[in-house]
This record gives sequence, structure tokens and C-alpha cells, in this order.
Amino acid sequence: MSTELLAPPALTAPVHIMELDKNDSDHVIGVFESLSEFDRYYRFFRSMPVYSSAVLDMLTGMNGTDHVAVGAFSGGVCVGVARYIKPAGREGVAELAVVVSAPARGHGLARRMLSALDAPARINGIAEYEVFVHPQNRPGLSLFRSLGFELTFNDGAFEGTMAVPRAKSL
Ligand SMILES: CC(C)(COP(=O)(O)OP(=O)(O)OC[C@H]1O[C@@H](n2cnc3c(N)ncnc32)[C@H](O)[C@@H]1OP(=O)(O)O)[C@@H](O)C(=O)NCCC(=O)NCCS
Repeated sequence: MSTELLAPPALTAPVHIMELDKNDSDHVIGVFESLSEFDRYYRFFRSMPVYSSAVLDMLTGMNGTDHVAVGAFSGGVCVGVARYIKPAGREGVAELAVVVSAPARGHGLARRMLSALDAPARINGIAEYEVFVHPQNRPGLSLFRSLGFELTFNDGAFEGTMAVPRAKSL
């Protein structure tokens, strides 16, 4: 097989990463609607052919403090979303999640979006991220390990934590 066939397709326009708010809900839903059955299973750990209103409320519940999301936009189209959500009653910890539309994968967007969450996390008192990754989700496991998460298998999922990276000095 030629290596050209393995290369990710080019994104048609430069990518901008920006924080999302409630007005961006349609963009967020657009990305999640684009996900395959497998992607949804990896993201939610269960089959999800249709998003329930509870899931849609969660996906669009950005509040700029306990729930911060960033989107990757190419040519005005949102092609990825990363977020942290602080679970109620736990101080200083937030759960990370990220999705990228299939045609936009392999260009470092997940990495860029997750990194863009660090500053708002620090500002909002988040000291540690945690993740839960499906054991068959090789891209997800590789992504979070490459960021520095120590993942251990527990109760059907890989889970792990990592300190929120410090601000880079200029
Ligand atoms: C996992 C996912 C977010 C990766 O998005 P992406 O933009 O393609 O990822 P990036 O290009 O930023 O890659 C970052 C790292 O992830 C890992 N990775 C990404 N795609 C991979 C693949 N197909 N196979 C193995 N590792 C992969 C690599 O470690 C990569 O680093 P490298 O490029 O230096 O090798 C994307 O595949 C996706 O949306 N999957 C469905 C949802 C999901 O599983 N989310 C994660 C759990 S919340």
C-alpha cells in the first residue's frame, strides 16, 4: 500500500481554536452528529445512535468555569471539540474529553484543543485532569498517554490523572 493512502487528508482551510459558549451549541452538536457509531461508543462507552436531551444538555452546558469547551474551526466549520467538566463536590479535579470529526483527524487538533484548555483550567482552580478511555480505543489511549497520563485498567476502562500543565514562560 502506498504511504499516500495512509496520510490524513488535508484540511481545506487554516484551523483556529476558540473557546465555545452557549451560542456555539449548534457547532458542538454538528461535530457530535458527524461521529460514527464506533466514535460515539468510544466517547460515551455505550451505543448512542441518537443523543438524548440529557446528553445534548451535557454537551452544550458550557459555563466558562466548571465546564469549559474549545472548538477547532476550519473554514467556519467546527471540526472538533475538547472540554473539561468539573464533577460536583470534587475540588480541583476535572474530567477531560475530546472528539475530532473523522476527516480532520491526524493533524494534531486533539492535542491543540486539549492544550487550549490548560489556561482556563488553571484560572478556574483545576489542578488535575482525569480521563476515562475505552480499552479498545487505541487512538484515545495513545493520545492521553502521549500527553503524560498514567493510565490503569479498572472496572472496564483505562483511567488516569495528570497535573494540569503549568503556564509556559515567555
Ligand atoms: C482520539 C481522537 C480525539 C484523536 O484526534 P486527532 O485530532 O486525530 O489526534 P491528534 O492528531 O491530535 O493526535 C495526537 C496523538 O493521538 C494519538 N493518535 C491519534 N490518532 C491515532 C491513531 N489513529 N492511532 C494511534 N494513535 C493515534 C497519537 O499519540 C497522536 O500523537 P502523534 O501524532 O504525535 O503520533 C479522535 O480519533 C476521535 O475523535 N476519536 C473518537 C472520540 C474519542 O475516542 N475520544 C477520546 C476519548 S474522550
